[in-house]
Amino acid sequence: MREYRVRGRGIEQIVLTERPTPRPGKRQVLIRMKAAALNRRDLMIVSSSLPERRSGLVPVSDGVGEVVEVGSEVSRVRIGERVCGTFLQGWQGGHMVDADTETALGGERDGVLAEYVTLDERGVVHVPGHLTDEEAATLPCAALTAWHALFETGRVRAGQTVLIQGTGGVSLFALQFAKLAGARVLVISSSDEKLGRAIDLGAAAGLNYSRSPEWDLWALEQTAGSGVDHVVEVGGPQTLARSIRAARRGGDISVTGVLAGDGGAVPVKSILFKQLRLLGVFVGSRQMFEAMNRAVAAHELRPVVDRVYPFESAVDAYRYLGSAAHFGKVVVRIAA
Ligand SMILES: NC(=O)c1ccc[n+]([C@@H]2O[C@H](COP(=O)([O-])OP(=O)(O)OC[C@H]3O[C@@H](n4cnc5c(N)ncnc54)[C@H](OP(=O)(O)O)[C@@H]3O)[C@@H](O)[C@H]2O)c1
Repeated sequence: MREYRVRGRGIEQIVLTERPTPRPGKRQVLIRMKAAALNRRDLMIVSSSLPERRSGLVPVSDGVGEVVEVGSEVSRVRIGERVCGTFLQGWQGGHMVDADTETALGGERDGVLAEYVTLDERGVVHVPGHLTDEEAATLPCAALTAWHALFETGRVRAGQTVLIQGTGGVSLFALQFAKLAGARVLVISSSDEKLGRAIDLGAAAGLNYSRSPEWDLWALEQTAGSGVDHVVEVGGPQTLARSIRAARRGGDISVTGVLAGDGGAVPVKSILFKQLRLLGVFVGSRQMFEAMNRAVAAHELRPVVDRVYPFESAVDAYRYLGSAAHFGKVVVRIAA
């Protein structure tokens, strides 16, 4: 079987290799992978010297496939079922513990950019039947992070206003989930064309942050001066101060990403006076994933897949993600 491995730093170091198809251990399942989806992290892992990257790693955390063989003690999953691996293989539910952080696919553990993978039966979830393989592949990281941000640590309710930053994977799932909950969504993007597409998806209003960098003041105007109930932060230290200004007193800010780079002071006094809650989000547990999938199935929600690349062109998919031209998710088709 064929699989990609990361030989060193840089996209060119992701190479297609061959090895015998693995066999599942007693509590493992063998999955014939159908599709994988890229996240910003996958790009970071190959482009930088993040501690979790090790030589020879099979990259990519997110994917879907069909169970083709199960170990002798497997009881949760059957042959023929369609499953996604969980991002953090060790985090089943409750509070995350230190050891769980060492179990991330495509980082600490081999990922899913492969024709076959073996995973522990506790590290997979069944996927909603209405989704195509390309759509289902997008769920483990970006979708779950948005779900966790809004509903697990967040408390978004109907009628509230949610601000999302950009139109990447996490942000568009946050848009779709916030709409499911009956919230109003404000979006900022560097592209007018992407803003139009976000409004077609249900956003109430949008602002181009490249042309109008004072999006915090815009968010206040959009809420008659009171501020938004929830900000899904993907920018990090460079955008946090504006997010704090854009939030209402007692509002929530989910801290999920560091896209805009390091640096920038944290305005502690504003957090204090406004009684804000800053909520750190690290993907989510298997239980959260299962709860999210129930909502995705009940509402027949369809993830936004921008482009699909063939398995042999996976490196081009990385390049496209790196160009930041994408809207939603970039997917690699592994098998029909
Ligand atoms: N905490 C977690 O567990 C977790 C999980 C998943 C992702 N993340 C992090 O979340 C971030 C987003 O990940 P992703 O996979 O969704 O990325 P992505 O799909 O690559 O999305 C990136 C988009 O963010 C927008 N953006 C970039 N800089 C911005 C800025 N200064 N202000 C506002 N928007 C900006 C851009 O949207 P436009 O093109 O529309 O401008 C860009 O296309 C990354 O930092 C990632 O590492 C964290």
